Amino acid sequence: MVKAITVHQNGGPEVLKWEDVEVPNPKYGEIRLKQNAIGLNFLDVYMRQGLYTLSPPLPFIPGMEGAGVVTAVGPGVTSCKVGDVVAYASPQVGSYAQERILPAALAVPVPSSIDPVQAAAVIFKGLTAHLLINKGFKVERGHTILVHAAAGGVGSLLCQWANAIGATVIGTVSTNEKAAQAKEDGCHHVILYKNEDFVERVMEITGGNGVEVVYDSVGKDTFRGSLACLKKRGYMVVFGYASGEPDAVRLPEIAAKSLYLTFSSVTEYTIDNREELLLASEDLFSNVANGVLKVIMSKKELVKWTDWMDECFIQSLLTQQDKGNRINGTFTSQAYANMVEELNAKTGLNLTKSHLKNRMKTLKNSFSQWYDMFRGTSLSGFGWNSETHLIEADDEVWANLINVLFK
Ligand SMILES: NC(=O)c1ccc[n+]([C@@H]2O[C@H](COP(=O)([O-])OP(=O)(O)OC[C@H]3O[C@@H](n4cnc5c(N)ncnc54)[C@H](OP(=O)(O)O)[C@@H]3O)[C@@H](O)[C@H]2O)c1
Repeated sequence: MVKAITVHQNGGPEVLKWEDVEVPNPKYGEIRLKQNAIGLNFLDVYMRQGLYTLSPPLPFIPGMEGAGVVTAVGPGVTSCKVGDVVAYASPQVGSYAQERILPAALAVPVPSSIDPVQAAAVIFKGLTAHLLINKGFKVERGHTILVHAAAGGVGSLLCQWANAIGATVIGTVSTNEKAAQAKEDGCHHVILYKNEDFVERVMEITGGNGVEVVYDSVGKDTFRGSLACLKKRGYMVVFGYASGEPDAVRLPEIAAKSLYLTFSSVTEYTIDNREELLLASEDLFSNVANGVLKVIMSKKELVKWTDWMDECFIQSLLTQQDKGNRINGTFTSQAYANMVEELNAKTGLNLTKSHLKNRMKTLKNSFSQWYDMFRGTSLSGFGWNSETHLIEADDEVWANLINVLFK
């Protein structure tokens, strides 16, 4: 048995379950992989929600990219052997697991110059960026390109790569924080599309000429504006629709400037073309190794808080309060240090002060979770130490309790 995150019903993040799963022996053409790390993609969200047309049947283990060590190979596998470090971008979900089965044809070698964790973070998004700048449209020095969601996973790599080729890169983003990221990733011009009309800005930046190509993964909200940003015979390269599928295109819209329209899908390009997959991944990894592409990995450590951990946390909060380690409504640094120590001892995790602070915010905003959690617990030292009292406490009492702890 290994641990995996599973989806038994479509919905929001709350449908994700942490479970034991059986990993079978690899069959013909398959390998078994012990994963060092996995990558997260926007596609995982589509699938969890059940929106994507290729959403797997329920239940399923989400996730499409990862890297790890081959621990077993099935009959007929010659492309890798036990002990090899490989990465994959797989149309077959199943990466949110400690170990998984994978068709060997999808696994590419990870060179020793690349940390497997980096490989897991970059393989799917990087192969997509590779496809977009080489096949969707061939970006060359002197081109001006428009990238939506420029600070996103694929967008960040796309901007870095196009900049290195010598293109002028215009990116759209939603926030100032993302604008700073896009600049760092080599965007020459960043448009905050919530504050300014991106079509007007692109025309202003390009002196009314428009761009050679638009890379559009936002879809519904941007599609028509993207067409308007293109110069004559420009390329509209769609590769996703985070805001929903765009309305149908009428041919006269394409005819007006003799535009090209394509949807570039990385799986469609590489699924049955091992040679193309190997060339693209070699190019990707060598550009990571030589510093052209920086792989941005979220520094946030994901912690799955269970009810049991929350109970420990609350008891810990109450103890610190009793000890006077809460002054003017704020827990002192010493209180946090004590709580971190206590919780790590109980859970075996490496929680930090910021984990506790983040959890506190979530709990504070989640009234029903608090309510459920206090049912049947003994909150000695806090005033409500009778189980009956707790269960019978009305909403106002619960609201006060939360205020007392977190105001
Ligand atoms: N065709 C392929 O083979 C392929 C492969 C991989 C990924 N994709 C597609 O590429 C896109 C980017 O994937 P990613 O994993 O790198 O994700 P991502 O860029 O990290 O996230 C999507 C970004 O889209 C922007 N966005 C605009 N409107 C949105 C909306 N209504 N809902 C959600 N996001 C919205 C947001 O950036 P702002 O806040 O800056 O607007 C958001 O951060 C996705 O559409 C994905 O499906 C396609």
